[in-house]
Amino acid sequence: MKIKNICCIGAGYVGGPTMAVIAQKNPKIKVTVVDINKDRIDLWNSKDLSKLPIFEPGLDIVVLQTRGKNLFFSTEIDKNIANSEMIFISVNTPTKTYGDGKGMAADLRYVELCARKIAEVSKSDKIVVEKSTLPVMTAATIKNILDETGSGVNFEILSNPEFLAEGTAMRDLEIPDRVLIGGGDDKYGKAAVKSLVDIYKAWVPMDNILTTNLWSSELSKLVANAFLAQRISSINSISELCESTGADVDEVAKAIGMDSRIGSKFLKTSVGFGGSCFQKDILNLVYIAKSLGLNNVAEYWHQVIRFNNHQRERFAKKILKSLYNSVAGKKICFLGWSFKKDTNDTRESAAIYIADMLLEEMAKICVYDPKVGKKQIYFDIDYLNSRTKEENKNLLSVSNDPYSACKKSHAIAIITEWDEFIHYDWNKIYISMNKPAFVFDGRNILDKEKLEKIGFIYKGIGKA
Ligand code: NAD
Ligand code: UGA
Repeated sequence: MKIKNICCIGAGYVGGPTMAVIAQKNPKIKVTVVDINKDRIDLWNSKDLSKLPIFEPGLDIVVLQTRGKNLFFSTEIDKNIANSEMIFISVNTPTKTYGDGKGMAADLRYVELCARKIAEVSKSDKIVVEKSTLPVMTAATIKNILDETGSGVNFEILSNPEFLAEGTAMRDLEIPDRVLIGGGDDKYGKAAVKSLVDIYKAWVPMDNILTTNLWSSELSKLVANAFLAQRISSINSISELCESTGADVDEVAKAIGMDSRIGSKFLKTSVGFGGSCFQKDILNLVYIAKSLGLNNVAEYWHQVIRFNNHQRERFAKKILKSLYNSVAGKKICFLGWSFKKDTNDTRESAAIYIADMLLEEMAKICVYDPKVGKKQIYFDIDYLNSRTKEENKNLLSVSNDPYSACKKSHAIAIITEWDEFIHYDWNKIYISMNKPAFVFDGRNILDKEKLEKIGFIYKGIGKA
């Protein structure tokens, strides 16, 4: 099928950037991103590009080049589905918070709503592409809903998981390690796969476009995230060992990473991985394994999450212990709230959990993040329901200036690895703080020797 119109349901961190790049590389295809969230669509359409709903370096340039030409953002879902030959489902698939599989399984209600909507409004054959991350064999469920509810038109389902990472999304989309497309192997399935390959072929070399069966594609996405997160938990576990032995975790990571069989990426120790996907996708994998009676498989992967929780807790406890086992009434400055640098996304950020533990100890936390504002920070901490909103307001404050955030604090905790933190005037910060002045570097980005020379008590992760 020759694709002239694409509709993507879900204008989020994946739908927006992915479709912007597809539109940029395929100027003859009209790409419309639709969403039920009108505010989000309005922001995607805002004239001022600094107001786009997500912050992603380089995204504004691509939006500027394509929006209004062959890239559109709209709330007219029905019309755009009906007018398109190919529909991407790129809606959220969070962990279930209710019922069977609560806290583990993926909540597929938004995906199901999309399938029902597509079935309801389609008057011609469609290729439906799973862009969201989904449990293995979801394509069968989607196909079922489409065929049972639709009005006799043919639906071909493809799996095309997204591997972009936030903060580097535009580069990841521009030069992907691979594009994965899973499809059926009858002639209709193969034709649908070819239609999608043709779209990516516009800029991705054929050697990097991998086609597989549907289930391999769906499962590979969960497995890729599980392997990446596993490396982080592995190095974080070694960070604890380093702290007890005098080895330096950064040196160990470098030494093992130079082994080409291991490789150097994803070996950076941290306060624990965050983000909307690692935890949810591993929990989903654990749930699937458990459902199939594969308890050893489930246990193996569950440990990656358990260790991540432990790492966050360990960091909070390290602050508490260093500050003489009492942080009540003491000001602690958090530099960074997003789950990694170069994004305004805070979902599952380690910052939220570390702050929660210290607030339970009655610490006074002041947060500064270059891209995350007050509203989001209070939303995140209130969402945990550990304390009343009023209590959180009394204990936690947000500053839009790093120097005032650090002023009169007893300790600074580096939570996110924003580049700007490295370039601060640390002398000026030291002078303004309570003494002894501690820096807990949760990302090991600062120069230990330099800070100690100024007078700070510096504590990195995985360093004696
Ligand atoms: P998101 O929450 O940023 O965006 C999802 C959007 O879908 C929201 O704007 C929501 O309003 C919209 N939506 C939900 N139900 C809808 C419906 N029925 N009709 C129309 N719009 C609807 O989520 P995201 O981060 O873009 O993630 C989307 C999917 O991609 C998830 O499955 C995620 O696991 C996967 N993924 C995310 C990333 C990432 O970096 N965020 C990377 C790879 C894969
Ligand atoms: C991750 C994957 O890298 C993407 O391939 C995937 O598409 C995406 O999840 C998804 O499915 O949502 P993302 O979560 O955006 O991308 O960002 P990462 O760079 O993977 O970082 C995740 C977390 O791990 C961050 O908190 C980061 O600080 C932490 N991390 C990363 C470390 O602690 N150490 C590292 O060495 C690397």
